[in-house]
Amino acid sequence: MRPRSPLLLALKLSVVLGSLWTLFLLSGPTIDFNPTYILRYRWLEYTGDDGSPESVCNCTAIQQGDEETLEQTKILTITKDFRKSIQIPDEYYINATQDCRNFKLSRKYLTFPLSQEEEDFPLAYSIVVHQKVQNFERLLRAIYAPQNIYCIHVDNKSEGSVISAIEAITSCFPNVFLVSKRVTVVYAAWSRVQADLNCMADLYNASTKWKYFINLCGQDFPLKTNLEIVRALRYLRGGNSMESKRMPEHNYRFTNSFEVVNGNLKVTGKQKTPPPFNLPILSGGAYIVVNRGYVRSVLEDHRILTLIEWSKDTYSPDEFLWATIQRLPGVPGSNWLGAKHDMSDINAIARLVKWHWHEGSRGSLEAVYPKCEGNHVRAICVYGVGDLQWMLAQHHLFANKFDIYTDPVAIYCLEKYLRQKALADLH
Ligand SMILES: *[C@@H]1O[C@H](CO)[C@@H](O)[C@H](O)[C@H]1NC(C)=O
Ligand SMILES: *[C@@H]1O[C@H](CO)[C@@H](O)[C@H](O)[C@H]1NC(C)=O
Ligand SMILES: *[C@@H]1O[C@H](CO)[C@@H](O)[C@H](O)[C@H]1NC(C)=O
Ligand SMILES: *[C@@H]1O[C@H](CO)[C@@H](O)[C@H](O)[C@H]1NC(C)=O
Repeated sequence: MRPRSPLLLALKLSVVLGSLWTLFLLSGPTIDFNPTYILRYRWLEYTGDDGSPESVCNCTAIQQGDEETLEQTKILTITKDFRKSIQIPDEYYINATQDCRNFKLSRKYLTFPLSQEEEDFPLAYSIVVHQKVQNFERLLRAIYAPQNIYCIHVDNKSEGSVISAIEAITSCFPNVFLVSKRVTVVYAAWSRVQADLNCMADLYNASTKWKYFINLCGQDFPLKTNLEIVRALRYLRGGNSMESKRMPEHNYRFTNSFEVVNGNLKVTGKQKTPPPFNLPILSGGAYIVVNRGYVRSVLEDHRILTLIEWSKDTYSPDEFLWATIQRLPGVPGSNWLGAKHDMSDINAIARLVKWHWHEGSRGSLEAVYPKCEGNHVRAICVYGVGDLQWMLAQHHLFANKFDIYTDPVAIYCLEKYLRQKALADLH
């Protein structure tokens, strides 16, 4: 800590009291007027005084969609020096976490629940990562709360330094752990689901307290604070939220058998048998928000265990398994099969994704959202600063994809916004 002069302290105090007073005036007399409480937590704001290169950006103007600021920011993020300055080597994390207390303090991790409401509603996270440790650490910091529990699946094919760095970070938190069984994740193959299943089993076994399960990947980022997430989940009243829709009965994804050959998924040429129990297969996404009972069913329900075995040689089972289970009678929080219960990714709260072919201008018959302001990877938008204003107006809890090396300022402004919001909701 830098030494502070009494004058500076007094000045800071008056600024805080001043802003608190406006808060008091705006919210009326119900607010708990406790200046020492607010003062105690002021240091948790992300101020940018840690010398992070993104701190020169004006996030307020970016959030408001100010064209000139967005242009300037885009130019900054493509300059060579800036791009170089945001790189953090994996070794940094291994060293910095030798002193966990200092790591958590300097990175401003929350070390206490911000409210009773959040403490009473712990969450369980599964995070599947394979590279870009900085992306992961920023994500973890944004969603970290001591009452929650986090299972991290690091891909078995990740570089040694990535595994060591993530292991070092998790070692600083009693409620963050590495999955007990690591798999090699192959694109579109069963292994992607297995990674989440392994974390589900570990999380289910590790604690009986958590209420909801959320799965993430290293390129996700929250759009809501932990309190907002808790409230959105309570509002589901025990229900689950995910994409789950009809699809044609005969789909090459599960009428043909697939296998992994040299790290890629290939058709075997064999036809598959129909789904067990003639279950209707629904279409959805890899990302879900589900209650504890859904996870218990996935681990124990014999119908689901049979469905899982049947799914192991299909194409992209992550995009139908969760959606199918969500419509299975008896699964806690599930929906009926009737088509009126079909849900799109836009109506579910699990994940905001911009697919290339759904972008367009408002008023066009086909367009679902405005065009991507970043760039595309496998037809999915990697968000840029220009997407922020729109994104923050959506109801989704998380958005995909973010990449610290595509647009670091998008992540910077988002994490700053969320922390400010979390502290502003304190009283
Ligand atoms: C940032 O942008 C806001 C909104 O456009 C503006 O009011 C503020 O003065 C700007 N801050 C700085 C430091 O330029
Ligand atoms: C390792 O971390 C300590 C603080 O924990 C720091 O003082 C030191 O400079 C770091 N060393 C390197 C090589 O980064
Ligand atoms: C993990 O990778 C190692 C090689 O690095 C390999 O020997 C092992 O079989 C892999 N394990 C799994 C479960 O894929
Ligand atoms: C659950 O955890 C206990 C220890 O707490 C362990 O003995 C047991 O094997 C675990 N079960 C599973 C299914 O992981």
